[in-house]
Amino acid sequence: MLKYLADKLLKSQRIHGDTGIYKFAQGWRRVNRIVLVNHLIKIHSYKSYLEIGVRKKERMNNLIETKRVSSVDPDPMANAEYCMTSDDYFSNHDEKFDIIFIDGLHEGQQVKRDIENSLNVLNKNGHILLHDINPPTAFHARENYEVNGKYPSWNGTSWEGYAWHRKNSPNLSMRVIDTDWGVGIIKVGKQKIWLGDVSGYEALETNREELLNLISVQQFLKEYPA
Ligand SMILES: C[S@@+](CC[C@H](N)C(=O)[O-])C[C@H]1O[C@@H](n2cnc3c(N)ncnc32)[C@H](O)[C@@H]1O
Repeated sequence: MLKYLADKLLKSQRIHGDTGIYKFAQGWRRVNRIVLVNHLIKIHSYKSYLEIGVRKKERMNNLIETKRVSSVDPDPMANAEYCMTSDDYFSNHDEKFDIIFIDGLHEGQQVKRDIENSLNVLNKNGHILLHDINPPTAFHARENYEVNGKYPSWNGTSWEGYAWHRKNSPNLSMRVIDTDWGVGIIKVGKQKIWLGDVSGYEALETNREELLNLISVQQFLKEYPA
């Protein structure tokens, strides 16, 4: 009983999703977006990785070895290979990648475009991952990061770009893994598209599991075994 209550309390505190330790292809790890990326790289022997929005390129040292790693970020402090917006990058480059991580401008229309542009340069059997697709409250899904000079946790409206494709792209397989503020995972495939509303946070709150196609970390590992 005590354990049940403790688990329940812990769960309610984990508003950003599962933070458990699981066995991934690279060993036992506490689950987060980078661990998921590394797991996919390892099980598919992926050779190339592109990250849209890096904040600090050095953070990418946590990636396991892939032959080719590239990054795009308009902030010079990020030290990305391509110091430009994702729109500028995609209009001038067509280099292909096995895995693309979208974590740039956290705005619905931008994420919708980042998904489309990424699909155009994704190798066959490649995956797109996205960060911040499961904001737990309307406050987390606000448009602007800054609130009265402070920067509380923020997911922006990235989920809306993902949701647009849930409604309009039957030729994609789309899921959100319930960890690290929601990690979207997309590949070319098939999906039963979401026929309901996708406008405004209330639509997400009311239909979170179906709209996002939310899966647990265990479900992910069952589908992508180590
Ligand atoms: C949330 S941070 C990325 C965090 C990083 N991916 C991680 O996992 O720790 C978002 C980054 O996106 C960058 N960014 C903003 N607008 C962008 C755009 N239009 N295209 C690409 N990156 C953008 C910002 O400069 C910032 O460094």
